[in-house]
Amino acid sequence: MTENALDTPKTSANGRVATEAARRRTFAVISHPDAGKSTLTEALALHARAITEAGAIHGKAGRRSTVSDWMDMEKARGISITSTALQFPYRDCVINLLDTPGHADFSEDTYRVLTAVDSAVMLIDAAKGLEPQTLKLFQVCKHRGIPIITVINKWDRPGRHALELMDEIHERIGLRTTPLTWPVGIAGDFKGVMDRRKGHFIRFTRTAGGATAAPEEHIPADDAYDAAGVDWETAVEESELLSADGSDYDRDAFLSGDASPVLFTSAALNFGVNQLLDVLAELAPAPNGALAVDGTRRATDDPFSAFVFKVQAGMDSAHRDRIAYARVVSGTFERGDVLTHASTGKPFVTKYAQSVFGQQRSTLDDAWPGDVIGLANAAALRPGDTLYRDVPVQYPPIPSFSPEHFAVARGTDPSKHKQFRRGIEQLDQEGVVQVLRSDKRGEQAPVFAAVGPMQFEVAAHRMATELSAPITLEHLPYQVARIVDPEDAEFMNRQVSAEVLTRTDGVMLVLFSTPWRLEGFQRDNPGIKLRSLVAAADG
Ligand code: G4P
Repeated sequence: MTENALDTPKTSANGRVATEAARRRTFAVISHPDAGKSTLTEALALHARAITEAGAIHGKAGRRSTVSDWMDMEKARGISITSTALQFPYRDCVINLLDTPGHADFSEDTYRVLTAVDSAVMLIDAAKGLEPQTLKLFQVCKHRGIPIITVINKWDRPGRHALELMDEIHERIGLRTTPLTWPVGIAGDFKGVMDRRKGHFIRFTRTAGGATAAPEEHIPADDAYDAAGVDWETAVEESELLSADGSDYDRDAFLSGDASPVLFTSAALNFGVNQLLDVLAELAPAPNGALAVDGTRRATDDPFSAFVFKVQAGMDSAHRDRIAYARVVSGTFERGDVLTHASTGKPFVTKYAQSVFGQQRSTLDDAWPGDVIGLANAAALRPGDTLYRDVPVQYPPIPSFSPEHFAVARGTDPSKHKQFRRGIEQLDQEGVVQVLRSDKRGEQAPVFAAVGPMQFEVAAHRMATELSAPITLEHLPYQVARIVDPEDAEFMNRQVSAEVLTRTDGVMLVLFSTPWRLEGFQRDNPGIKLRSLVAAADG
C-alpha cells in the first residue's frame, strides 16, 4: 500500500485544484501509420470548435497550413515527426490531446508521450484490423496500465465485418471489447450508429469533403427501422448478440485495462466524432496524481509538481529554441512561479511558459493537473526530470527503450570539433538519439543508437542546420543491445560480432549483429549475465 505523501490540511484552494483536475482528460491517440490519427485529431478539435476547418493542425497534402509539421524534412515527407499538445474545452471538460508522431520510426517519442497520459484512444483501420504498430503500442499501454478506448475508423470504406474485428481484438490482445456504438450499415455503407446504451439511432449526413462537423439526427429506436431499414435490424440483432456475450460497458474493467469501450467512426467524414468526445468527457479517467520514486503518492491537490516527458528543439525556423514539455501531476502552476528542478536542486524560473497548439504558441498563464506546460529556453531540463514547488518530490525516470539501429557519427569539418561535441551532448540530453562511446572508437566517433532509423535523420539534420556541425553517419551492422556488467566487458569485446559501448549514464551495453548471435552466445556462456533494456513492447 502507498500512503499520501503529504499531510497538509486541505483548503478551498485545494478544492479548486481538485475541481480543475477532475475536468481534465489527458490522452493520446495511438495507431499504426495511416489509420487516420491526424485526421481524427483534427476532427476532434473541429467538433469541439477549437478550430473551424479540418486541415488546420496537420496540413497534409491538399489541406491547409501546417502546425505540427515543424521541420523542412517533415514537410517534404508529409508526416508529423514531433509531438504537440492540443488543449481545448469540451462541455465541462478540458481536453488535453497529446499528439504523437505519425511515423513508426519515431515510436520512441510515442512511448515517452504515453508516460504523460491518463488514457489512450487506439485507432484501427476497419479494413486492416490490428497492425504491427497498433500491437506494439497496445503492449506499452497495457504495461503502464493505461485504459484504452478503441475506435474503428474508415467505416465509410469497404472493410471487415464489425463482429470479426471485435473477435480479432479479443483473441490477439486479450482485450474484451464493449462497444458503446454499433455501426448501422456495413463498412463502406456507413449510415450511422446505434447508441447501445440509449438504444437510439444516430444518423449522420455527409458534408462537402468532410471539412465541417457532420450534422447528426437522433432517431428513437421505434422510428429507426423507417429511417435505416434492414441495416437497423441487423445492428439491433448484432447488439443483442454482444449483450448476450457479456460485451456491455463495464467501468471497472475499462479502468483496469481488461475491457475497452469501442466506437465506430469515419474521421474523414466526421462521423462518430461527437460520440468519441462524449465518451472522453463522460468515461475517460481524470488525472489521479502519481507515484513518486519513494513509493508515496502525490494527490492532484497536493503542492505543485510536474515531470518532463519530452524535450524538443528547433520547432520552426523562426524560433530556434528548446521547449521542455512537462505534465502537471499536482497543484496549480502560474507563469513566473519559481520551481525547483529535482535532479539538481536548482531553482527554475518559468517566465517563458507556453501552451503550444500546433504551431500557434500562446503564453500560458496557469495550468492544472493533467495539463502540459511548454517551458521555453529550458536548457537544463531533460526527459524524466521532476519540477516541484515547496515540497520535494521525484518521479520515476522515463524508460529508455531498447535501440535496434546503430550508426557512428563523425563531424565533416574538423575545425568544428567544439560545436560537434556540444551538439552531440545536446541531442543526447534531449533523447533525440542515445549516444554510446568507447575508448576504442574515441570521442570523435560516438555511436548513435535509436529505436527507429529516422531518429538518425533528425539528428543529422539538427547537427547540420541548428548546431553548426554537419556529420556523416556510418551504419553499424548491429540489431540488438543488452546491458552487461563492467567486469564482463572485456570478455564480451573479444566475441565475434559483438561490441561493448558505454551510455552517457555509465551503463555498458553490448551490441550483437543479430538476435541469433545473442542467443548462441547466451547458450555457450550461461555464466555471463546480460540484461534486457526496456523493450518497446515492454514499455
Ligand atoms: P495517420 O495520421 O494515422 O498516418 O493517418 P492520416 O490521418 O494521415 O490518414 C491517412 C489517410 O487515410 C489519409 O488519406 C486520410 O485522408 C485517410 N483517412 C483518414 N480517416 C479516414 C476515414 O475515416 N475514411 C477514409 N475513407 N479515409 C480516411 P491520404 O490519401 O493519404 O491523404 P489525404 O490526401 O486524404 O489527406
